[in-house]
Amino acid sequence: PIRQVTPVDIRARKGATPIVCLTAYTTPVARLVDAECDLVLVGDSVGMVLHGLPSTLGVTMEMMILHGQAVARGVNHALMVVDMPFGSYEEGPEQAFRNAARLMAETGAGAVKLEGGVAMADTVRFLTARSIPVMAHVGLTPQAINTLGGYKVQGRGADADRVLADARAVAEAGAFSVVLEKVPADLADRVTAEVAIPTIGIGASAGCDGQVLVVDDMLGLFTDFKPKFAKRYAELGRDAGAAIAAYAEEVRARRFPAAEHVFGEDA
Ligand code: KIV
Ligand code: NA
Repeated sequence: PIRQVTPVDIRARKGATPIVCLTAYTTPVARLVDAECDLVLVGDSVGMVLHGLPSTLGVTMEMMILHGQAVARGVNHALMVVDMPFGSYEEGPEQAFRNAARLMAETGAGAVKLEGGVAMADTVRFLTARSIPVMAHVGLTPQAINTLGGYKVQGRGADADRVLADARAVAEAGAFSVVLEKVPADLADRVTAEVAIPTIGIGASAGCDGQVLVVDDMLGLFTDFKPKFAKRYAELGRDAGAAIAAYAEEVRARRFPAAEHVFGEDA
């Protein structure tokens, strides 16, 4: 039997070989990600990339549970982490515990992720002390789009100290790793050097202890907009569009179905 990666394993990879992470939201994609990655994140990006929402703010506990259950059916080896959706943890540690425990119990995830640094440190400490491993997320935190004023690079110039303090706070509070999103590469390297837990970069630096991307971005399936950091490793959206166009043309020309797709009396 395959031994599943644990948050303790991820924590121990600080400064070692890079931790490979991708998001997944469905069983078939989870199987593909599980075959190559250490960690599969059921990100609240699901709201934007699969449900067409304009931001992650409308994502619900029910959506995270349904997609978490689908992903769990495709994961054998990687650590599965589920995002806590906007509004499910910010009120305080007890609300956060109630919803984190529900996410883990109903999906089988090994950890949760939540956004925030200094402001969430008490919550991270509360959850960790009660057996819920927490992945933190600092820098650009998409659930804070309305207070940040857009999906901007965080931590430039004098703002670097804020991002560093956020990463320090969640590390000291017991997070087993921290996502560092859309910050200058030099700052990502500095955070990686100064905090004791693995940094997982997205739009950060190759010097982070690991990397994560939204799987639909890197596969070219989500093309509404393309962040600079979202390297396209495939163009599946383009390929799917061409496949659908070919099907439409063949149906209209009565070239599909062909002989091999229809039934006779025997075959
Ligand atoms: O929701 C998500 O996909 C994320 C990753 C980009 C880190 O939080
Ligand atoms: Na997220």
